[in-house]
Amino acid sequence: MEKKQSGTGTDTDSVTKKVPFLNRIDLSSPDIHQSVSLLKQACLDSGIFYVINHGISEELMEEVFEQNKKFFGLPLSEKMKVLRNEKHRGYTPLFDEILDPDNQVHGDLKEGYYIGVEVPEDDPKAEKTFYGPNVWPSDDILPGWRHTMEKYHLEALEVARAIARIIALALDLEADFFDKPEILGQPLAFLRLLKYPGQISDPSNGLYGAGAHTDYGLITLLATDDVYGLQICKDKYAQPQVWEFIAPLKGAFIVNLGDMLERWSNCLFKSTLHRVLGNGQERYSIAYFVEPSYDCLVECLPTCKSAKNPPKFPPVMYGDYLGQRYKDTHIDLNVYNELQS
Ligand code: OGA
Ligand code: NI
Repeated sequence: MEKKQSGTGTDTDSVTKKVPFLNRIDLSSPDIHQSVSLLKQACLDSGIFYVINHGISEELMEEVFEQNKKFFGLPLSEKMKVLRNEKHRGYTPLFDEILDPDNQVHGDLKEGYYIGVEVPEDDPKAEKTFYGPNVWPSDDILPGWRHTMEKYHLEALEVARAIARIIALALDLEADFFDKPEILGQPLAFLRLLKYPGQISDPSNGLYGAGAHTDYGLITLLATDDVYGLQICKDKYAQPQVWEFIAPLKGAFIVNLGDMLERWSNCLFKSTLHRVLGNGQERYSIAYFVEPSYDCLVECLPTCKSAKNPPKFPPVMYGDYLGQRYKDTHIDLNVYNELQS
């Protein structure tokens, strides 16, 4: 299928190609060698693949999408009651995030909702950025909403751990490498509900559903409805950039690679540059960002460096990295206080 870019034609920095074929990693397959080989090939080629037979039931997937729609269908005044807080939990209105400030005239045309790992207020961990209690819409307004989201959060983490084992093997590590407490033992995992309104994006005029970006952590598990919108750019350093639509696949996860995997693997597996274009239809998606803990020191893996191939990045503490990325891409919360006063 040939997909034309929605821009006016003045956009010379990018061209859009046909939908690429993506490998499917079947988590129910007993043939681990085949899974490792398919995953490795996908990571080296495009940094994106499908995960099928992941074990999350169709019912739960559908329920999350239903509840997602219900939340974004609430009046703005209701959604503003659970506005994003300084721990990055809750509702992000249209334009709250700007993922590619250099090329966007305003923030992303999308609404979102962040749900993290639940950490009680009195837990010493809650003193750190990103750790704390979640915020929830009232159960009277959205019955069962919290329960659905908490269940999905837990199950998605198990899927992520299963994928991380295959990634570890593909990097010649022990299968449980990423299961360490500071990585996926006690991760910073964010479930993010998203709604793109039915507007048409216009890249040539700097208008996007989500600006071009890479995700920050290890991997992202993305579930989408059947509306096209997600694009990837396989070679992020090429000019002009070539953008390809990623086909939705019902019941599957689209998995892309984050910046920490690029750092751990010394650029063997690069983080996936992607963006979202609105095509005039409303679009719902559910992203699950799989990230190490705040204190995790991310440094080049022993299997990815040599005398000829020294580490390309200095070690980084994940919380510092994430804090900076969020600061660069979200508007200051004080803006909302000023609007409301
Ligand atoms: C994201 C993202 C893609 C989508 O939230 O980081 O890239 O299809 N989402 O919503
Ligand atoms: Ni993303």
